[in-house]
Amino acid sequence: MSRFSNEFIFGTATSSYQIEGAYQEDGRTPSIWDHFSRIPGKVRNMENGDVACNHYHRYEEDVEILKRLGVDSYRFSIAWPRIFPEPGKYNPTGMDFYKRLITSLRENNIKPAVTLYHWDLPMWAYKRGGWINRDSVHWFLEYAEKCFSELDDMVYLWITHNEPWCAGFLGYHQGIHAPGHTDMEEALKAVHHILLSHGATVDLLKNKLQSKTPIGITLNLSPVYPASSSMNDLLAANNADGYSNRWFLDPIFKGKYPVDMMNLFSKYVHDFNLVQEGDLEQISIECDFLGINYYSRNLVQFVGASDLLFKPAFSEYEKTSMGWDIAPNEFKDLIRRLRKEYTKLPIYITENGAAFDDYLSEDGKIYDHDRQRYIELHLKAIADLNEEGMNIVGYYLWSLLDNFEWAYGYSKRFGITYVDFETQQRILKESGIRYAEIIRSRTINS
Ligand code: FCB
Repeated sequence: MSRFSNEFIFGTATSSYQIEGAYQEDGRTPSIWDHFSRIPGKVRNMENGDVACNHYHRYEEDVEILKRLGVDSYRFSIAWPRIFPEPGKYNPTGMDFYKRLITSLRENNIKPAVTLYHWDLPMWAYKRGGWINRDSVHWFLEYAEKCFSELDDMVYLWITHNEPWCAGFLGYHQGIHAPGHTDMEEALKAVHHILLSHGATVDLLKNKLQSKTPIGITLNLSPVYPASSSMNDLLAANNADGYSNRWFLDPIFKGKYPVDMMNLFSKYVHDFNLVQEGDLEQISIECDFLGINYYSRNLVQFVGASDLLFKPAFSEYEKTSMGWDIAPNEFKDLIRRLRKEYTKLPIYITENGAAFDDYLSEDGKIYDHDRQRYIELHLKAIADLNEEGMNIVGYYLWSLLDNFEWAYGYSKRFGITYVDFETQQRILKESGIRYAEIIRSRTINS
């Protein structure tokens, strides 16, 4: 049996576009996801977040679920197009929703952990070039400043960006996420400006506004392993690690982009103004914590006919319904590596969880033992890591609710609460009941 300290933060996580709905209400204008999800072939069954979990109207019921779970904290994101529906035009009615949510959380002793950007870029910003345009840093700062001035005294921690890898590479290189571009040079620009806006936002909160609220960034990190020990597979693993991990960790913690990847990327970059003087100092500004979203490991093999010379390799591991390997031991490798090579900052696991196919039983329950086991394995890993002194200070389970899973639409259920999308009925799954027990006892079995 392992015990979590009394200070350890247990939470759940969601994001605005995935749960809120109310896509045209109180002045909200479209984001790139409203647009992208309407393009045939982009999202499974042409589904979208118009209604999602209707959390915008049902947030009080959702706070009740959080209360029932007994969480210390709740991580959610703010929809930028609710706050600035048009360039330079602040919408206080949009902000009011988050004030109501935060007030309700605080009344129930639940600490609000707020992400500023979880991928819903306003369409007006996209039309001006989106993250490819360096001005995006200023647009983001204007938005962040409003969030800080209205909410900072009620917020427990701020997260600037959720997973710049997805926003940058999945959105601009692989085209799987909005805005659906497939251009490496654009992706590198988008990533750079996202990272720059992160640094500028931290600077704004800490130095200009002199706030004491902790602020950090959330990265999705995935430890990479070669399918064999051949030179080619080792190269493939190095490149995959560079693409998904080091391209973010190095600028943030070492103030430089990794040289091997710069060489590999150089054939795509024609605009040498991309990294300007002072940018890397800005990006590597000291934060208060690192947020990590961890789902799986990445097994790769060499492939000559690809830009980055790697592709996923066949793996025998047990998988979730996303096809992702269940890999709690590799999670430990990841954290130990971060401690050794990158940072001593406190770490929050800002997302971890699993999609499995759920069935509503005749007795009205969801016996999602696979998900329960996944959660227990990862919590046990955290407890073990903390015994080694790894200083993981909190865990946000993804997700509170089944929700809109981006390109997969509603086909993948990550919730510990089942959502019937026809009736909007919520039912706490067995994994949720178990999570509440873990939180109450602050212990996890070996
Ligand atoms: C992460 C995202 C989150 C959710 C999970 C499953 O990459 O941050 O919104 O989709 O994956």
